[in-house]
Amino acid sequence: MLVLGIETSCDETGLAIYDSQRGLLAHRLYSQVKLHAQYGGVVPELASRDHVRKIIPLLNQVLTDANIAKSDIQGIAYTSGPGLMGALMVGGAMATALGFALAIPVIGVHHMEGHLLAPMLEDHPPQFPFVALLVSGGHTQLVSVKAIGDYQLLGESLDDAAGEAFDKTAKMLDLDYPGGPVLAAMAERGQIDRFDFPRPMTDRPGLDFSFSGLKTFTRNLINQHRGGDVLPDEQTTLDICAGFQEAVVDTLVIKCRRALQQTQMKTLVIAGGVSANSRLRKKLEVALAKDSAEVFYARHEFCIDNGAMIAYAGCQRLAAGQRNDLAISATPRWPLDQLPSLLPSL
Ligand code: KG4
Ligand code: ZN
Repeated sequence: MLVLGIETSCDETGLAIYDSQRGLLAHRLYSQVKLHAQYGGVVPELASRDHVRKIIPLLNQVLTDANIAKSDIQGIAYTSGPGLMGALMVGGAMATALGFALAIPVIGVHHMEGHLLAPMLEDHPPQFPFVALLVSGGHTQLVSVKAIGDYQLLGESLDDAAGEAFDKTAKMLDLDYPGGPVLAAMAERGQIDRFDFPRPMTDRPGLDFSFSGLKTFTRNLINQHRGGDVLPDEQTTLDICAGFQEAVVDTLVIKCRRALQQTQMKTLVIAGGVSANSRLRKKLEVALAKDSAEVFYARHEFCIDNGAMIAYAGCQRLAAGQRNDLAISATPRWPLDQLPSLLPSL
């Protein structure tokens, strides 16, 4: 089955063509980072308008890259939530209209299910069941995954998501937007143990997270080391980045190991923007090896938002006979464990 995937939930327009026989044939991503940088965060109305501008040129590009015609497409998958309402509507309108015109099935995909299944696009994909750590700008969740659509929430952040904590901390340090990857790059040049950052909620049982205290700790640290309006010197900034990242990573590693022990599983999947963090990947690899467990993640471009993960997830659901009707579905808030189940062997 040849499926077109469309992702427009936030500030990236992603389109892809996935074939259930031949795998991923093409994918294109347009990032709106420059558009939102001047505002220091995503402006929803501008995001919607930019998706409108880019979606058709990107569609034509993926068709050319995959060497297929529109009429070859057999199904369409689009992100129908969670995300920004206007942005979701752009992808949903495009998918539904094209599906109607071509008389082919259309399916709305949960954005986090897309992330969760992205490692399936790699040469060495994980096997079910596994524990998934979903770490993005809006989510920090531990999920027990028995099969596609069989998701049980084990724990989640009670306040900021891990990516959000990275972005807010970067903003406090006046780093370039988007802050997460910039902070991570600076952390590599800093000293991890100069400051004694806490590891929130690791000293008590449970699989929930809280990152807002880390933000407060960082703010106080910055204030201690600043001279009036002047931010801390370069070395101190690097050391704060390193200490902050280490605290987030350690906290995630502790909870992942705990989730694997609790579920008696040996496979961990990490997905979402923060799973691109190389320190997190490395520390998980080392920690899990001690438990004879293994961690899986997608290549960098499929950790962040992209159309390929939506095409893949949608293809599984379409092949199982699921489809949406002609109404455009856009669900800004949508719990992952409310999705219908289906068997993975498609
Ligand atoms: O999955 P994603 O592209 O979008 C959402 O669904 O939210 O994740 C974006 C988040 C941002 O908060 C970004 O700062 C963070 O992922 N991120 C990183 C890294 N790369 C992206 N955080 C830490 N280290 C990175 N290397
Ligand atoms: Zn995402």
